[in-house]
Amino acid sequence: MKVLIIGSGGREYSIGLALKRDENVSKIYFAPGNGATDELGDNIDISDFSELANFVETHSVDLTIVGPEAPLVDGIVDYFRERNLTIFGPTAAAAQLEGSKIFMKNFLARHNVPTAKYVETDSLDDAVSFIATLDTPIVVKADGLCGGKGVIIAESHDEAKVAAADMLAGSSFGDAGSSIVVEEFLDGYELSVFAICDGKDFVVLPAAQDHKRLLNDDQGPNTGGMGAYAPTPLVDDDIYTKLDERVIKPTLKGMEEEGNPFTGVLFIGVMVVDGEPIILEYNVRFGDPECEALMPLLKSPSSELFYKAAKADLKNAKIEFYDKYAVGVVMASKDYPYKSSPPAEIIIDNIYHEDLEASSHISYAGVSRDEDGKLYAVGGRVLVCVGIGDSIAEARDRAYMLVGQVHFVGKQCRTDIAYQALGGVKV
Ligand SMILES: Nc1ncnc2c1ncn2[C@@H]1O[C@H](COP(=O)(O)OP(=O)(O)O)[C@@H](O)[C@H]1O
Ligand SMILES: [Mg+2]
Repeated sequence: MKVLIIGSGGREYSIGLALKRDENVSKIYFAPGNGATDELGDNIDISDFSELANFVETHSVDLTIVGPEAPLVDGIVDYFRERNLTIFGPTAAAAQLEGSKIFMKNFLARHNVPTAKYVETDSLDDAVSFIATLDTPIVVKADGLCGGKGVIIAESHDEAKVAAADMLAGSSFGDAGSSIVVEEFLDGYELSVFAICDGKDFVVLPAAQDHKRLLNDDQGPNTGGMGAYAPTPLVDDDIYTKLDERVIKPTLKGMEEEGNPFTGVLFIGVMVVDGEPIILEYNVRFGDPECEALMPLLKSPSSELFYKAAKADLKNAKIEFYDKYAVGVVMASKDYPYKSSPPAEIIIDNIYHEDLEASSHISYAGVSRDEDGKLYAVGGRVLVCVGIGDSIAEARDRAYMLVGQVHFVGKQCRTDIAYQALGGVKV
């Protein structure tokens, strides 16, 4: 099978790594890929949907997997399906679950999926009256895609009003904020749960935890994610059952009934409050770096999972996971997430430790390669060091041993990834 992966991050690199160890996969293409994905396959520099479809036809690509949300919201899946090409991801209409927080919240309300109490509005008066009814903190969200920066957690009623007014006036998030969601603050712990869906059936991956803040102890500004681990012991069978019955099944049934069956990755942002999973949001693709921690846990051939989901045939798939843990530690460049940093050469020590070589690896993201084959850190998040082990502590230790062997000027990483599962331990 030949597979095309759309995207250029560590997420797409890790999907590529999983496909690489799958005997059924003979060729991998990345569009556009990054400076390291050329180790796994061929990078092609195309973004136009019709040119991508032409490439897929002329190169007999069997399956296209879409990594990021933007092409999904822009309708790449609709376009490929019109041309009878097999693609894994939701249609533009189904991608509204991520593209519009108002669509998502109203959908959850229509189908009785538990979510924070809210109003959605384009009127400041409505927002202000609802804010007055809430205790602090208060959450104000822009409706549209804001690259993970469209949410304000206001500590006072006044701050919430100012955030709502700024969003509605278009001064903070442009058009994405012309309508907003105001909602109650949920106090609990957060999980990332991923369901691979084929429209009707689904496979739930081991639950993961992301670390959004730049610095240890969840301090500093929000980032795209500084590390992740899976499975997290913060989820028990009871929570998985509640997620299946109260969240995933009604969501797939509701999307189908409304004429938008959901195929692809349903990324469920969950807050567990007093043992009850409450939905913060949906995304329609893998989280990054959660994907880098989840892909190595997949025991079944990854092409089977993605291909069968794209073909609406998951009920005939038997998907298994290793009984292991994975921890991914993001190494970012010096000025992340504030501004871009100058390119810095990446040097990796020889990995001589047998254990380490077999049970850790790097997923590359913001890197480029020069003519001599040298790798340079060029992006915000440069790479993810992933450790695999029989316990979270073992996986974490292996990830950090690898971190210690990777060098570039200005590198930064958190030293407490997975701390919530390890009773607060830092390296
Ligand atoms: N109702 C809420 N209560 C508490 N925290 C929230 C709430 N909504 C969002 N958050 C926090 O803000 C983060 C971002 O919100 P989210 O809805 O996931 O939007 P996005 O990922 O698009 O920025 C969440 O990961 C969570 O930490
Ligand atoms: Mg989110």
